[in-house]
Amino acid sequence: MSTSDAATFRLGVLGSGKGSNFVALAEACRTGQVPARVALVLSDVADAGILDRARERGISAEYLAPGRYRTKLDEVSEPAYVEALQAVKVDLVVLAGFMRILKGDFLRAFPQRVVNIHPSLLPAFPGLEAWRQALEYGVRVTGVTVHLVDHGIDTGPIVAQEAVPVLDDDTPATLHERLQRVEHRLYPAAVAAMATGRIRVDGRRVVGGPSAMGMGTEA
Ligand code: GAR
Repeated sequence: MSTSDAATFRLGVLGSGKGSNFVALAEACRTGQVPARVALVLSDVADAGILDRARERGISAEYLAPGRYRTKLDEVSEPAYVEALQAVKVDLVVLAGFMRILKGDFLRAFPQRVVNIHPSLLPAFPGLEAWRQALEYGVRVTGVTVHLVDHGIDTGPIVAQEAVPVLDDDTPATLHERLQRVEHRLYPAAVAAMATGRIRVDGRRVVGGPSAMGMGTEA
């Protein structure tokens, strides 16, 4: 390994879906907006788009079977994920639409080094299909949150947030699409702040993350 390679901040990306956030992040790494490189992509879904998006960019991508549970990794699978990420020496684990809860040994292996993106203004609407929850509740403003992962579901310290208005004629699909446009900008900005050591965690408060300058401009 060359010196510059050893010095490069390395990302391990986990995803279960189409991988649009991964693509945004990989592009931001390629252009230098994020001073890092994606070392490995892992998915719990064998035919997930994220694996194809990685392979077509020449990035290592692997399906790792999640085991016998529906919402988390099992006792065999979780250490396999940890080992694969440690083998390529990732500095940060980036969850990009990874639809399983990570707990215990996984989080202990990467303390304060697992980050997630969620399509609502947490603590509102944790869990699945947050855009649908927001529409059904009738909020006029929702948004996107980037947060560190802790033992709860979408409860970890918040690194970045940006608001997105709910429009009168929104459907779940149109609202999710507008939220994703914000995700594709906010996630790379937050990862860049982490890669350059700009953020500091003080209990629940994270300082130094990207500011919410774009707030409300994505309608
Ligand atoms: C994103 O909208 C992300 O916020 C959401 O899954 C989508 C993945 O899209 N994650 C969650 O809901 C986590 N609770 P992608 O595969 O195109 O990046």
